[in-house]
Amino acid sequence: MTQTSRERTVFARNPLDMIMHQHAMQMQLCDMLERIADGLPDEVDRRLCAQAASSLTYDLPLHHHNEETGLFPLLRERALPEDQIENILGRLATEHVTDTDFASEIAESLEILGRGDRVGNPDMVGYMLRGFFERYRRHVHWENTLVMPVARMRLTPEDLEALTQQMERNRGDTL
Ligand SMILES: [Fe+2]
Ligand SMILES: [Fe+2]
Repeated sequence: MTQTSRERTVFARNPLDMIMHQHAMQMQLCDMLERIADGLPDEVDRRLCAQAASSLTYDLPLHHHNEETGLFPLLRERALPEDQIENILGRLATEHVTDTDFASEIAESLEILGRGDRVGNPDMVGYMLRGFFERYRRHVHWENTLVMPVARMRLTPEDLEALTQQMERNRGDTL
């Protein structure tokens, strides 16, 4: 999920498209994690493990940070009461904290597998992977169906510009 020039082109056009694009990449990441879990303990693709570990370590926390410092505050400001977005944003923000922690734990095991070493407890790693991708698919689905449509409807061109700038600042901070 490392940023490509194609992503940067999308990014320049509309930050909401960029977030949706990242959600699609996250769904692919969940599929990767499922394939790894299915292959444990012996049939794991090392390159896939290393790639997933990198996405979990770098891309996922940055994405969460973009939502928390950019998208969600703008939405809280613009959403109307009938959008009923406040509770869902609170719940998604709570999940970001848990998922960022969980992702870094999983990434440690995937790095071991990526080096071609064996993990101490493959059943536990499989269990953690399944817990993560099942919950994370739900998280992305909620954002795509409940949050992004409201963002498309309510955010102004100035908001989108502010969101773009915030995301660029966040990316600069992590480089
Ligand atoms: Fe999120
Ligand atoms: Fe998201």
